[in-house]
Amino acid sequence: MFEYAPAPESRDVVDIKPSYQLFVGGEWVDSQGENRHKTINPASEEVLAEVSWATEEDVDRAVRAARKAFGPWSAMPGSERAKYLFRIARIIQERSRELAVLETLDNGKPIRESRDVDLPLVAAHFFYYAGWADKLAYAGHGPDPRPLGVAGQVIPWNFPLLMLAWKIAPALACGNTVVLKPAETTPLTALLFAEICRQADLPPGVVNIVTGAGETGAALVNHPDVDKVAFTGSTEVGRMIARSVAGSGKKVTLELGGKAANIVFDDAALDQAVEGVVNGIFFNQGHVCCAGSRLLVQESVADELLDALKRRLATLRLGDPLDKNTDIGAINSAAQLAKIRELSDLGEVEGAERWSPECPLPDRGFWFPPTIFTGVAQSHRIAREEVFGPVLSVLTFRTPAEAVEKANNTPFGLSAGVWTEKGSRILWMADRLRAGVVWANTFNRFDPASPFGGYKESGYGREGGRHGLEAYLDV
Ligand code: NAI
Ligand code: MG
Repeated sequence: MFEYAPAPESRDVVDIKPSYQLFVGGEWVDSQGENRHKTINPASEEVLAEVSWATEEDVDRAVRAARKAFGPWSAMPGSERAKYLFRIARIIQERSRELAVLETLDNGKPIRESRDVDLPLVAAHFFYYAGWADKLAYAGHGPDPRPLGVAGQVIPWNFPLLMLAWKIAPALACGNTVVLKPAETTPLTALLFAEICRQADLPPGVVNIVTGAGETGAALVNHPDVDKVAFTGSTEVGRMIARSVAGSGKKVTLELGGKAANIVFDDAALDQAVEGVVNGIFFNQGHVCCAGSRLLVQESVADELLDALKRRLATLRLGDPLDKNTDIGAINSAAQLAKIRELSDLGEVEGAERWSPECPLPDRGFWFPPTIFTGVAQSHRIAREEVFGPVLSVLTFRTPAEAVEKANNTPFGLSAGVWTEKGSRILWMADRLRAGVVWANTFNRFDPASPFGGYKESGYGREGGRHGLEAYLDV
């Protein structure tokens, strides 16, 4: 066994202000209210900055700024809007190290992931939708598709900047203006993005950022002058939003939870499958809506696969997210850690067998070791509910038909994975799996050209690709 020397990324590349205002109409403005909250580094509990939790009046001001900007922005030729989006994409690339460090500080995810996954995908999204801005007439949504107006967008904390990109890039390409609310625990990269909008000379009011928690989010989605609501987060809040906007004429997309099956057949390349299973559930501490949180393994190779998986988990390095060798970072918040602990304890109470590698946890901050449950039954809560943490439930199957039945036996339907050597079996499975994305011999791969979204309680609407334009056009 050899040890790695510490390889911390420097945090000097990012300049965090002690406190932030709201970004409205291209200016930094004070909130009308007094409600200020600290955002912390979940790996150390150190306070990073203070932000305002915007009031209903603040949200109204932001929506009015977006409405005012909508006329000229939507009238601008697509080729002109594209220039702004390309400029934003390039600035994101230029400032990607700064953005990655800030994302890791505020969120707790390993720098290796924010640097190599989040940031490249964020830039790619802006480049991709910049390319559509002058080609909307050829997107299959009619000869002269019109934007919707003002989009109210609420995003979660697991991929703060990437979810911002998924929401803002298509909205702007189509000629809408936006008011975006980042999650309460991860506001900082959205606020730096506001700075980037200024740097790109984006016309004032096209992008507005209001920080806050659930009440601010509710004020935004319920604002009467919002034409389009886009939400990513829990199924519970998604349901509330669907109820509150019903009958209002607002167009809605909801991207909610998941409980994806990652299905390994006995003819699969097992070493590759092990990597795919690890990437499926331990990437981003398992804070991933499309995480492969249920491993379905064919009975004949279950022991062999589990042994290999346990050996692999013992090599994962948990700790300082800014260290370039870290695989598993911090859990994003005390609340999320409590939820992961509660569901994991329940797994044991319900009779599943719990296993974690030897894994010392840091004293400060929020941490949870990579965990596997075996002997899991379909009825167990850890097999049915989204844990949203580094916790894998293992079930077995004998036949492809049984695998399909078990995989689909969930209220969700966001993603699934299939590991097999047979192309015909991949197609047979993909036809039958009720999931928005089906990965074959890989997992958690994202591309801006590929649509993403769910069945059933995983939500509705698609983000990404040509399909993602439809959510922001009056079609
Ligand atoms: P959440 O759904 O409460 O938060 C997501 C976003 O919605 C945040 O920006 C939040 O401020 C906002 N929000 C909360 N209440 C709102 C309301 N009434 N109206 C409008 N916006 C509102 O999720 P939370 O509490 O952070 O996590 C709880 C669970 O949800 C997690 O354990 C996980 O299972 C799931 N989740 C799923 C995500 C996904 O990507 N599918 C992302 C985040 C959480
Ligand atoms: Mg919440």
